[in-house]
Amino acid sequence: MEKLTANIKKEIETLVKELNEHNYRYHVLDAPVISDEEYDRLFRRLKELEERYNHVLPDSPTKRVGAPPLEKFQKVQNTEPMLSLDNAFSHDEVREFDQRVKRFLKSEQEVEYTVEPKYDGLAMELSYKQGLLDRASTRGDGYEGEDVTTNVKTIKAIPLRIEGVRIPEKIDIRGEVYMDIQEFENLNKEREKNDEPAFANPRNAAAGAVRQLDSSITEKRKLHMACYGLGAAKGIEFKSQEDFVNWLKKARFPVPLVFDIVTGVENVINSIKKIEEGRPTFPFETDGAVIKVNDFGLQKELGFKTREPRWAIAYKFPAHQGTTIIEDIKANVGRTGAITPVAMLTPVRIGGVTVSRSTLHNWDEIERKDIRIGDTVVVERAGDVIPHVVTVITEKRSGSERKFLPPKECPVCGSTVVRDEGEVAYRCIGLNCEAQVLEKIYHYASRGAMDIEHLGGKNIELLYSQGLITHFIDLYKLKKEQLLSLPRFAEKSAQNLIDAIEKSKKTTLARFLYALGILHVGEYAAKQLARHFKTIDELYGIKPEQIVDIKQMGAKLAESISDFFSEKENLHTLDSLKKLGLTISNPDYEAGARKEKGPFDGLTIVVTGTLSRPRNEIEELIESLGGRAAGSVSKKTSYVLAGEEAGSKLEKAKTLGVKVITEKEFEQMIRGV
Ligand code: IVH
Repeated sequence: MEKLTANIKKEIETLVKELNEHNYRYHVLDAPVISDEEYDRLFRRLKELEERYNHVLPDSPTKRVGAPPLEKFQKVQNTEPMLSLDNAFSHDEVREFDQRVKRFLKSEQEVEYTVEPKYDGLAMELSYKQGLLDRASTRGDGYEGEDVTTNVKTIKAIPLRIEGVRIPEKIDIRGEVYMDIQEFENLNKEREKNDEPAFANPRNAAAGAVRQLDSSITEKRKLHMACYGLGAAKGIEFKSQEDFVNWLKKARFPVPLVFDIVTGVENVINSIKKIEEGRPTFPFETDGAVIKVNDFGLQKELGFKTREPRWAIAYKFPAHQGTTIIEDIKANVGRTGAITPVAMLTPVRIGGVTVSRSTLHNWDEIERKDIRIGDTVVVERAGDVIPHVVTVITEKRSGSERKFLPPKECPVCGSTVVRDEGEVAYRCIGLNCEAQVLEKIYHYASRGAMDIEHLGGKNIELLYSQGLITHFIDLYKLKKEQLLSLPRFAEKSAQNLIDAIEKSKKTTLARFLYALGILHVGEYAAKQLARHFKTIDELYGIKPEQIVDIKQMGAKLAESISDFFSEKENLHTLDSLKKLGLTISNPDYEAGARKEKGPFDGLTIVVTGTLSRPRNEIEELIESLGGRAAGSVSKKTSYVLAGEEAGSKLEKAKTLGVKVITEKEFEQMIRGV
């Protein structure tokens, strides 16, 4: 380590400040002043200095990423409960709300309200101590949530340090974590390509991302936040919601896109209409507007009913539905050969968006809803961004409607279509099916996989149609001269692509396993595999039994991985890739190994009775040493650690013949004696 000089210290401080400023400009104001490349350059410089001099500031942007995966989330108590809101489904119900407020306040005077969009995400509380983000927790049941700090730190719009205002001793800020619609659609496209189930709406996608134990996955999902509420605070006071939101803005927090302050309920309704009109242009999903009494003094007077404040209400927009006709149904072939039925609709405007296609998911769904070509159907995109068919209006049938049966032959290559036992999907088994071949290459090159820049769908199609590639392995045999002979390429673009392909040769095991496109192996499963197997060679000829033991690997997944690595042809491809210069490092294994090589590696232990320290402390210890702390005794339990006055769990252990250990024996195991 080199010695930290005053100059270096200053440079680190300046870099942190500058990067945080750029972060804020990019993610909150949406008005960046430098290029991504320039940002990356500054970021790399900061990281280099931090490592070289071992000097990392608490609000350094490098702290947003790279934390080791967690085993589980800790439970946390909310200082003040996080409650929900009462709903209004019509303008009249909003008027009734205003009446109730006035009645309660015993006042005839018009009330001042704030009106904001209702973000469709998940509620989050950010706790700042002395200006630094100390903890982020989910709402949970309102009283007890989960500590998701590591994940939330990857959300770039959230400040790690409060700036631009006087720093309060403590402040809890509440808001909604959500995923932009565009990001959500990209994510679902990727998931469908990988045969992973698509998320029904951005809210589920955001909740899934926040609940990842590995924050590097959360980071990839690109979440956002809008702050709208005050929890506990010390050393600061606010007069009103307006006052609070102005402070949030100054302190650089992301706030709701629309924030109106109006007097009287008719103006509230105008404001609601404005939000509803703006809705199709918002980058995020919103299902209504939230109306709050502005004055905090009045809010206090109004107080709460059991779980809801009397001073606020959520107005819900009517669901986004429309009626249209299914003109045709097409069978779409994916990367793994899975065939998905897609309805081609007479274009219809729903909630400001023109809808002309709708996924029908699978043939079970078609059968259940009895959907036929020519049918008049109700299509919905409420909350759900991918439109889906809600129901068929059977009264409109003329008798000329046609059923759409699963194809017996692949619509692209003509190969046989099969349906695996227990699966809903039909699959084309043609090894050289063009749709599959192209999708496989496309997947291989995609961002989460080998990340080959300049190799989008158009270029892949061109290279394929010219006979230059029929498999991703062919990418590594491409010559610049070959590209130059093609219409889309000039000197620079050809060189760019060749360079990008070359660059992709240095990869990690997790990325590579994902890129191979093994059935059911998404990014998460690939990462889990990389944490357990040091090199790809260890997977050659692997049996399903050796995989199912790994956390969260189901039998289907294990089977599929085993099948892939038993196939001679595949192993041959892997060896050829290595010969072509592919080098695979595995940083995940190092991270995984550190955790798992403990004295309790692979053991499940149940802790019961009174011991020398609290049970959760002992359970944490077990988990940190590679074991799993379970709540109930079963045949699979390795040991029951029993203290004084152990009751039913001890009895059960005896009945099942599970080994019981004392605290002393437990400590001996830790010391390895
Ligand atoms: S204020 C006492 N403002 O909607 C609760 N909530 O259905 C005060 N939500 O739990 C909440 N956007 O998770 C408020 N602009 C907004 C909101 C919002 C979304 C969520 C929040 C709340 C739920 C109630």
